[in-house]
Amino acid sequence: MTVQTAATSFEDGQPPQGPHHVAIIMDGNGRWAERRGLPRAMGHREGVQALKRTVQAAPRFGIRCLTVFGFSTENWQRPAEEVSDLMGLVRAYVGSDLDRLKKEGVRIRILGRRAGLPTDIAAIVDKAEANTAGNDRFLLQVAFNYGGRADIVDAAQAWADKVARGEAAGPLTEEAFALGLSSAGGPPVDLIVRTSGEQRLSNFLLWEAAYAEFVFQDVLWPDYGAEALGDAVAQYHNRDRRFGGRHPASSKAARAKG
Ligand code: IPE
Ligand code: IPE
Ligand code: MG
Repeated sequence: MTVQTAATSFEDGQPPQGPHHVAIIMDGNGRWAERRGLPRAMGHREGVQALKRTVQAAPRFGIRCLTVFGFSTENWQRPAEEVSDLMGLVRAYVGSDLDRLKKEGVRIRILGRRAGLPTDIAAIVDKAEANTAGNDRFLLQVAFNYGGRADIVDAAQAWADKVARGEAAGPLTEEAFALGLSSAGGPPVDLIVRTSGEQRLSNFLLWEAAYAEFVFQDVLWPDYGAEALGDAVAQYHNRDRRFGGRHPASSKAARAKG
Protein backbone atom coordinates (compact mmCIF):
# COMPACT_ATOMS: atom_id res chain seq x y z
CA MET A 1 0.00 0.00 0.00
CA THR A 2 1.16 3.51 -0.75
CA VAL A 3 0.39 6.40 1.58
CA GLN A 4 0.12 9.69 -0.28
CA THR A 5 0.72 13.08 1.24
CA ALA A 6 0.75 16.37 -0.65
CA ALA A 7 4.40 15.93 -1.51
CA THR A 8 5.42 12.34 -1.12
CA SER A 9 4.58 8.68 -1.15
CA PHE A 10 5.79 5.96 1.21
CA GLU A 11 6.14 2.67 -0.62
CA ASP A 12 5.77 0.41 2.39
CA GLY A 13 2.61 2.19 3.53
CA GLN A 14 4.26 3.02 6.83
CA PRO A 15 5.56 6.57 6.94
CA PRO A 16 8.94 6.64 8.69
CA GLN A 17 9.09 8.42 12.01
CA GLY A 18 9.11 12.15 11.25
CA PRO A 19 10.04 14.88 10.79
CA HIS A 20 8.68 14.71 7.25
CA HIS A 21 8.90 18.46 6.73
CA VAL A 22 11.85 20.44 8.09
CA ALA A 23 12.09 24.21 7.61
CA ILE A 24 15.49 25.85 8.05
CA ILE A 25 16.48 29.45 8.74
CA MET A 26 19.91 29.29 7.14
CA ASP A 27 21.66 31.90 9.27
CA GLY A 28 25.29 32.81 9.95
CA ASN A 29 26.85 33.14 6.50
CA GLY A 30 28.16 36.63 7.26
CA ARG A 31 29.70 35.65 10.59
CA TRP A 32 31.28 32.55 9.05
CA ALA A 33 33.06 34.77 6.52
CA GLU A 34 33.93 37.56 8.95
CA ARG A 35 35.56 35.09 11.35
CA ARG A 36 37.86 34.07 8.51
CA GLY A 37 38.58 37.63 7.41
CA LEU A 38 36.71 36.94 4.16
CA PRO A 39 34.09 39.05 2.42
CA ARG A 40 30.50 38.19 3.37
CA ALA A 41 29.88 37.06 -0.21
CA MET A 42 32.18 34.10 0.45
CA GLY A 43 29.97 33.08 3.36
CA HIS A 44 26.92 33.16 1.13
CA ARG A 45 28.74 31.11 -1.50
CA GLU A 46 29.68 28.48 1.09
CA GLY A 47 26.08 28.63 2.27
CA VAL A 48 24.99 27.30 -1.12
CA GLN A 49 27.34 24.31 -0.65
CA ALA A 50 25.75 23.69 2.75
CA LEU A 51 22.30 23.78 1.13
CA LYS A 52 23.40 21.19 -1.44
CA ARG A 53 24.76 18.91 1.31
CA THR A 54 21.60 19.30 3.36
CA VAL A 55 19.21 18.56 0.47
CA GLN A 56 21.32 15.51 -0.37
CA ALA A 57 21.26 14.23 3.21
CA ALA A 58 17.61 14.92 4.03
CA PRO A 59 15.98 11.76 2.57
CA ARG A 60 18.34 9.65 4.72
CA PHE A 61 16.47 10.92 7.79
CA GLY A 62 13.01 10.27 6.35
CA ILE A 63 12.59 13.93 5.44
CA ARG A 64 10.36 14.38 2.37
CA CYS A 65 10.19 18.16 2.32
CA LEU A 66 12.69 20.91 3.12
CA THR A 67 11.76 24.58 3.25
CA VAL A 68 14.72 26.93 3.42
CA PHE A 69 14.75 30.66 4.10
CA GLY A 70 16.90 32.24 1.40
CA PHE A 71 15.94 35.90 1.42
CA SER A 72 13.49 37.75 3.64
CA THR A 73 11.35 40.78 2.80
CA GLU A 74 13.57 42.61 5.33
CA ASN A 75 16.82 41.54 3.65
CA TRP A 76 16.28 44.30 1.04
CA GLN A 77 17.56 46.63 3.77
CA ARG A 78 21.08 45.24 3.36
CA PRO A 79 23.64 47.10 1.24
CA ALA A 80 22.89 46.84 -2.49
CA GLU A 81 26.07 44.86 -3.08
CA GLU A 82 25.07 42.13 -0.62
CA VAL A 83 21.51 42.01 -2.01
CA SER A 84 23.00 41.54 -5.45
CA ASP A 85 25.32 38.77 -4.15
CA LEU A 86 22.32 36.96 -2.68
CA MET A 87 20.36 37.26 -5.93
CA GLY A 88 23.38 35.91 -7.78
CA LEU A 89 23.30 32.77 -5.67
CA VAL A 90 19.88 31.87 -7.02
CA ARG A 91 21.30 32.08 -10.53
CA ALA A 92 24.27 29.94 -9.47
CA TYR A 93 22.29 27.31 -7.52
CA VAL A 94 19.50 26.86 -10.04
CA GLY A 95 21.91 27.13 -12.97
CA SER A 96 24.23 24.41 -11.67
CA ASP A 97 21.74 22.12 -9.95
CA LEU A 98 18.38 22.28 -11.70
CA ASP A 99 19.00 19.39 -14.10
CA ARG A 100 20.35 17.16 -11.35
CA LEU A 101 17.51 17.99 -8.94
CA LYS A 102 15.02 17.32 -11.71
CA LYS A 103 16.59 13.90 -12.43
CA GLU A 104 16.56 13.07 -8.72
CA GLY A 105 12.81 13.61 -8.50
CA VAL A 106 12.97 16.87 -6.56
CA ARG A 107 10.11 19.31 -7.00
CA ILE A 108 11.07 22.95 -6.46
CA ARG A 109 8.67 25.58 -5.19
CA ILE A 110 9.43 29.18 -4.39
CA LEU A 111 7.54 30.72 -1.46
CA GLY A 112 7.18 34.48 -1.28
CA ARG A 113 6.37 37.43 -3.46
CA ARG A 114 7.35 37.03 -7.09
CA ALA A 115 6.65 40.71 -7.73
CA GLY A 116 9.68 42.74 -6.67
CA LEU A 117 12.24 40.16 -7.81
CA PRO A 118 14.61 41.15 -10.61
CA THR A 119 13.08 39.98 -13.91
CA ASP A 120 15.75 37.39 -14.63
CA ILE A 121 15.47 35.88 -11.14
CA ALA A 122 11.68 35.67 -11.49
CA ALA A 123 12.19 33.88 -14.82
CA ILE A 124 14.71 31.46 -13.25
CA VAL A 125 12.38 30.53 -10.41
CA ASP A 126 9.42 30.15 -12.80
CA LYS A 127 11.55 27.78 -14.89
CA ALA A 128 12.70 25.79 -11.85
CA GLU A 129 9.10 25.33 -10.73
CA ALA A 130 7.80 24.46 -14.20
CA ASN A 131 10.62 21.99 -14.98
CA THR A 132 10.15 20.06 -11.74
CA ALA A 133 6.36 20.31 -11.36
CA GLY A 134 5.91 16.63 -12.20
CA ASN A 135 8.31 15.39 -9.48
CA ASP A 136 7.06 14.00 -6.20
CA ARG A 137 9.97 12.19 -4.55
CA PHE A 138 11.10 15.23 -2.56
CA LEU A 139 9.79 18.78 -2.19
CA LEU A 140 12.31 21.61 -1.88
CA GLN A 141 10.67 24.93 -1.02
CA VAL A 142 12.83 28.05 -1.13
CA ALA A 143 11.44 31.06 0.70
CA PHE A 144 12.78 33.95 -1.32
CA ASN A 145 11.53 37.52 -1.01
CA TYR A 146 9.45 35.90 1.70
CA GLY A 147 8.00 37.38 4.86
CA GLY A 148 5.48 35.61 7.06
CA ARG A 149 3.52 38.81 7.63
CA ALA A 150 3.50 39.70 3.93
CA ASP A 151 2.32 36.17 3.16
CA ILE A 152 -0.55 36.44 5.65
CA VAL A 153 -1.51 39.86 4.28
CA ASP A 154 -1.49 38.42 0.75
CA ALA A 155 -3.75 35.57 1.87
CA ALA A 156 -6.13 38.08 3.47
CA GLN A 157 -6.12 40.12 0.27
CA ALA A 158 -6.83 37.00 -1.79
CA TRP A 159 -9.85 36.28 0.39
CA ALA A 160 -11.06 39.91 0.17
CA ASP A 161 -10.75 39.71 -3.63
CA LYS A 162 -12.80 36.52 -3.66
CA VAL A 163 -15.51 38.19 -1.59
CA ALA A 164 -15.49 41.23 -3.88
CA ARG A 165 -15.95 38.94 -6.90
CA GLY A 166 -18.81 37.18 -5.14
CA GLU A 167 -16.87 33.89 -5.16
CA ALA A 168 -16.50 33.34 -1.42
CA ALA A 169 -18.99 30.80 -0.16
CA GLY A 170 -19.62 30.66 3.58
CA PRO A 171 -17.54 32.02 6.45
CA LEU A 172 -13.75 32.24 6.38
CA THR A 173 -12.14 29.12 7.88
CA GLU A 174 -8.50 28.39 8.71
CA GLU A 175 -8.39 25.92 5.84
CA ALA A 176 -9.82 28.41 3.33
CA PHE A 177 -7.49 31.15 4.56
CA ALA A 178 -4.42 28.91 4.32
CA LEU A 179 -5.17 28.30 0.64
CA GLY A 180 -4.06 31.89 0.05
CA LEU A 181 -0.64 31.36 1.67
CA SER A 182 2.32 30.62 -0.56
CA SER A 183 2.82 27.33 1.32
CA ALA A 184 -0.67 26.13 0.28
CA GLY A 185 -0.75 22.51 -0.80
CA GLY A 186 2.54 21.64 0.94
CA PRO A 187 2.81 19.32 3.95
CA PRO A 188 2.56 20.67 7.50
CA VAL A 189 5.83 21.87 9.06
CA ASP A 190 7.12 19.43 11.68
CA LEU A 191 10.39 21.06 12.66
CA ILE A 192 11.87 24.55 12.32
CA VAL A 193 15.66 24.75 12.62
CA ARG A 194 17.65 27.96 13.00
CA THR A 195 21.40 27.92 12.75
CA SER A 196 23.99 30.40 14.10
CA GLY A 197 22.70 30.50 17.68
CA GLU A 198 20.03 33.16 17.12
CA GLN A 199 16.69 32.21 18.65
CA ARG A 200 14.03 34.06 16.69
CA LEU A 201 11.79 33.49 13.67
CA SER A 202 12.74 36.68 11.79
CA ASN A 203 9.35 36.60 10.03
CA PHE A 204 9.65 33.00 8.78
CA LEU A 205 6.52 30.83 8.41
CA LEU A 206 4.50 32.66 11.07
CA TRP A 207 1.24 30.85 10.29
CA GLU A 208 2.80 27.47 9.57
CA ALA A 209 4.90 27.50 12.77
CA ALA A 210 1.81 27.16 14.99
CA TYR A 211 2.58 23.58 16.09
CA ALA A 212 6.05 23.04 14.70
CA GLU A 213 8.90 21.97 16.97
CA PHE A 214 11.92 24.29 17.21
CA VAL A 215 15.60 23.41 17.27
CA PHE A 216 18.27 26.10 17.56
CA GLN A 217 21.79 25.07 16.67
CA ASP A 218 25.03 26.94 17.28
CA VAL A 219 26.55 25.88 13.98
CA LEU A 220 26.94 28.59 11.34
CA TRP A 221 25.06 27.77 8.14
CA PRO A 222 28.13 27.28 5.87
CA ASP A 223 29.27 24.50 8.24
CA TYR A 224 25.90 22.69 8.05
CA GLY A 225 25.43 19.23 6.59
CA ALA A 226 24.35 15.67 7.32
CA GLU A 227 25.79 15.58 10.83
CA ALA A 228 24.08 18.76 12.05
CA LEU A 229 20.82 17.76 10.36
CA GLY A 230 21.00 14.36 12.06
CA ASP A 231 21.46 16.11 15.39
CA ALA A 232 18.39 18.29 14.78
CA VAL A 233 16.33 15.22 13.82
CA ALA A 234 17.50 13.40 16.96
CA GLN A 235 16.34 16.34 19.08
CA TYR A 236 12.98 16.20 17.30
CA HIS A 237 12.63 12.53 18.17
CA ASN A 238 12.87 13.44 21.84
CA ARG A 239 9.89 15.78 21.63
CA ASP A 240 6.34 14.86 22.50
CA ARG A 241 3.95 16.65 20.15
CA ARG A 242 0.52 17.07 21.67
CA PHE A 243 -1.11 19.73 19.46
CA GLY A 244 -3.01 21.00 22.49
CA GLY A 245 -4.63 17.64 23.14
CA ARG A 246 -3.75 14.58 25.19
CA HIS A 247 -2.60 11.19 24.03
CA PRO A 248 -1.45 9.49 27.22
CA ALA A 249 -0.97 6.09 25.58
CA SER A 250 1.81 7.45 23.41
CA SER A 251 3.18 10.28 25.56
CA LYS A 252 6.67 10.05 27.00
CA ALA A 253 5.37 10.30 30.53
CA ALA A 254 3.07 7.32 30.03
CA ARG A 255 5.83 5.31 28.39
CA ALA A 256 8.20 6.10 31.25
CA LYS A 257 5.61 4.90 33.82
CA GLY A 258 5.28 1.72 31.76
C1 IPE B 1 22.08 34.16 6.31
O1 IPE B 1 23.30 34.65 6.72
C2 IPE B 1 21.80 34.44 4.87
C3 IPE B 1 20.77 35.45 4.66
C4 IPE B 1 20.19 36.19 5.54
C5 IPE B 1 20.38 35.66 3.29
P1 IPE B 1 23.51 36.13 7.21
O2 IPE B 1 23.96 36.96 6.06
O3 IPE B 1 22.31 36.64 7.91
O4 IPE B 1 24.71 35.93 8.21
P2 IPE B 1 24.92 36.65 9.61
O5 IPE B 1 23.68 36.45 10.42
O6 IPE B 1 25.17 38.09 9.32
O7 IPE B 1 26.09 35.96 10.19
C1 IPE C 1 16.73 35.51 8.42
O1 IPE C 1 18.00 35.84 8.79
C2 IPE C 1 16.61 35.49 6.92
C3 IPE C 1 17.29 34.41 6.23
C4 IPE C 1 18.00 33.46 6.78
C5 IPE C 1 17.17 34.39 4.80
P1 IPE C 1 18.46 37.33 9.12
O2 IPE C 1 19.91 37.24 9.39
O3 IPE C 1 18.02 38.25 8.04
O4 IPE C 1 17.63 37.68 10.42
P2 IPE C 1 17.94 38.69 11.60
O5 IPE C 1 18.19 40.03 10.97
O6 IPE C 1 19.15 38.19 12.32
O7 IPE C 1 16.73 38.67 12.48
MG1 MG D 1 21.73 36.63 9.83
